[in-house]
Amino acid sequence: MDGQSAQLTTADNIQGLLSENTLSFIARDQQYGAHNYQPLPVVLSKGKGVFVWDVDGKKYFDFLSGYSSLNQGHCHPKIIETLMRQAQQLTLTSRAFYSENLGNYAAFITAYFGYDKVLPMNSGVEAVETALKIARKWAYEIKGVAKDAAKIITVSDNFHGRTLSVVSFSTDRIARNGFGPFMPGYISIPFNDLEALENALKDEQVAAFLVEPIQGEAGVYVPDDGYLAQAYSLCQKAKVLFIADEIQTGLARTGRMLACDYEDVRPDILILGKALSGGTLPISAVLCDDALMLTIKPGEHGSTYGGNPLACEVAISALQVLKEERLAENAAKQGKHFRSRLKSLHHPHIAEVRGKGLLNALVIRHEHPEASQNLCLELMRNGLLAKPTHGDKIRFAPPLIITREQMDHAIAIIERSLAVLSDVKM
Ligand SMILES: Cc1ncc(COP(=O)(O)O)c(C=O)c1O
Repeated sequence: MDGQSAQLTTADNIQGLLSENTLSFIARDQQYGAHNYQPLPVVLSKGKGVFVWDVDGKKYFDFLSGYSSLNQGHCHPKIIETLMRQAQQLTLTSRAFYSENLGNYAAFITAYFGYDKVLPMNSGVEAVETALKIARKWAYEIKGVAKDAAKIITVSDNFHGRTLSVVSFSTDRIARNGFGPFMPGYISIPFNDLEALENALKDEQVAAFLVEPIQGEAGVYVPDDGYLAQAYSLCQKAKVLFIADEIQTGLARTGRMLACDYEDVRPDILILGKALSGGTLPISAVLCDDALMLTIKPGEHGSTYGGNPLACEVAISALQVLKEERLAENAAKQGKHFRSRLKSLHHPHIAEVRGKGLLNALVIRHEHPEASQNLCLELMRNGLLAKPTHGDKIRFAPPLIITREQMDHAIAIIERSLAVLSDVKM
């Protein structure tokens, strides 16, 4: 596809610019796979560090990072070495037996984040479900909420995953449409609205407040300074648990180990996922103290693969890499540089550049409904992969190992690709 045409890439002409090889992989995926995603038309076969390569050998910057799962970069040597070593030793015991790995991992991750206990799960949404179950159990057994009356406060435009109970409190029409009936017990308030939270907390049946410290999927919405700290203190006063979903914002992505660290908030329940494996396995975790975690008794919750030996060893390595390579510091530094360079363009089609650390979004100002999609196609042609999220926003979230030189190269690609937005034919 590279250099085939001086013409700018759009949704209309993209097919003609793709290789036969690429088209055949896409056709197979389309024919035999469910259509529950809408990928960019690129077929990848290799990844290393901040780069991926397609089936024709073309190299790209990965500015999506598996939706922030690849904070440590593709195929990080230390994580892969651990994965290979443990894969030859013991991969799964189920929780019917102890393993020599889970206790060590639990001790490691609880010390790392400063909690009494961890409950290991696999996907992010499973960890969210787990946190909600713990909150309900605590509400009935400790807080004294009447049987089956517990409520959870959530915020609009949240994204916590795709299970039925989690889409029950989504405000995204597409995520919900056709999947009812939904689970009761959720109260929805606007994000970044302390007054609404204060009002909702008056209900004595409320067990918990669930929030993403920065709304990632919604388009990287950063709340006002002080929102998290004040929300936490309102929850404390109301004897309501503060649950932070740091699946996307955590693990150094926003320039601190947790986004909540910016406001010195220690969530009552912390949810982690994605980069906990450095992009190698689905590994998630829920962390909290004994008063909450010990409300869950044997047989009341579990998962066959949760806390498996392979996951335990990989997660330890993935967490070690974050500190050893000072990835939070690098995310803060490179993110600041990225935002200031893009803001300094004063581009007529960029309405806003926002974010924290290396979780950033460009908000596109354009009358064409496909503008952000076309920009992503042009970026792809120029060697950088990113995806629109919710219409006019493009999320830019590269691996946190990115160097200043690589970042400048990527910014030059973005600058060049913005020309597609000025193309009258678009
Ligand atoms: C904040 C947040 N929570 C939960 C999830 C769900 O994670 P998973 O897709 O691993 O279930 C995501 C995924 O993007 C997320 O960003």
